[in-house]
Amino acid sequence: MASKETIILGIETSCDDTSASILKSYSVLSNVTANQLIHERYGGVVPELASRSHQENIVQVVNAAISKASIEMKEIDAVAFTQGPGLLGSLLVGSSFAKSFALARKIPLIAVHHMKAHILAHFIDDAGDKKPTFPFLCLTVSGGHTQIVLVKSAFEMEIIGKTIDDAAGEAFDKAAKMLGLSYPGGPLIDKIAENGNAKAYPFSKPKIEGLDFSFSGLKTSILYFLNTESKKDPTFIQKNLTDLCASVQHTIIEILIDKIKTASNQTGIRQIAISGGVSANSGFRRALKDLEKNGFETFIPKFEYCTDNAAMIAVTGKFLFEENLFVDQSVSAHARLIW
Ligand code: KG4
Ligand code: ZN
Repeated sequence: MASKETIILGIETSCDDTSASILKSYSVLSNVTANQLIHERYGGVVPELASRSHQENIVQVVNAAISKASIEMKEIDAVAFTQGPGLLGSLLVGSSFAKSFALARKIPLIAVHHMKAHILAHFIDDAGDKKPTFPFLCLTVSGGHTQIVLVKSAFEMEIIGKTIDDAAGEAFDKAAKMLGLSYPGGPLIDKIAENGNAKAYPFSKPKIEGLDFSFSGLKTSILYFLNTESKKDPTFIQKNLTDLCASVQHTIIEILIDKIKTASNQTGIRQIAISGGVSANSGFRRALKDLEKNGFETFIPKFEYCTDNAAMIAVTGKFLFEENLFVDQSVSAHARLIW
C-alpha cells in the first residue's frame, strides 16, 4: 500500500486554529489555517466559541487546502486528524469531519497525537535547511505543554522533562496579560521586546532539580514587581513596556535553554530541536542558534510549522501510513490523550 507519492489530508482543530493541509510524500502542497480572532476580546480561548468556529470553518478550509494543492479530492489516499490533547469540543469537530471524510471516500483514517506531531514537523520537506537524525532531543514548548523529549524514532519518544505547573507559552501569555497586552500575548511580547533591554529587570528564575520546569514562580514575581512599581508610578508599565517585555522574554528563554543544555549533557545527545508555538519566538530562535558555537547541532522549524498547523498532522500521518497504523470508525477524540 505504501508508496512514495502518497497524498495525505491533515486536519488540525485542537485549539483555536482550524487547519487543513495536503501533503504529497513529505512535501507540503498546501497548508491552510483559519485563525479565530474572536477570542482576542475575551483574553483567552473560549472553548464553546472555538468549537463553533471550527464547525463554521472546516469545510471551507479543507476545500481551500485541496484547491490550493491543485489536486482532486479523489487523489487523497488517507486522512489524518488530531485526536488530542486539546479542547474536547474543538477536537470533536476535526475528528468527526475526518471520520466522515474517510468513510465517504473509503480511505484509511489516521489518529495523530498533537504533541508528537509538533516534533515530527521537523520532517516536512521544507521545514528547515537540515533534518535531525534519531536520536535527538526536542524541546516542545507550546501554550499547554513544555517538555523535553528524547526522540528515539518517529514512534518511540520519551518525555525526560516537563513543566510541573504552567507551560512556557502560558507564561508568555499570562505575563502579556499583566502588561495589558491582548491574547495571545506571546507574539506581542516577541515583537515589543525587539527594542527593549533584556537585562533591565532581572526576574528570578526557579530552582527545580533535574529536567523539569516551573513557570508559576516567575509569574508571581512579575505580578508583585508590577504591583509595587505601579503603586509608585501608575504609568510604570506604559513607560517601560519594551524593557519589561524584553526582560520577561529573556528570563523565559534562559529557563528553557538552561534545561535543554542539562538534558544534552545528561544524555550525551548534541542534536537539539525545538517545536511548538513558543519556538516561533525570535529571541528563543536566536538563543538556540547560539548554542551551535558550543558544539550543539540545532534544528529550528520554519515559522509556519511552529504554531498549530495541519502540515505537521499530515506528516505524522505519513509516518503512520507507512506502517499501516490506521484507526477504525469507533475512534474518538481525547482532551488528555496519553503520550
Ligand atoms: O503550539 P501552539 O500554537 O498551540 C498549542 O498547542 O498550545 O502554541 C501556542 C502558544 C501560545 O501560548 C502563544 O502565545 C505562543 O505559543 N507563541 C509565542 C510566539 N508565537 C506563539 N510565544 C512567544 N513568542 C512568539 N513569537
Ligand atoms: Zn500545538
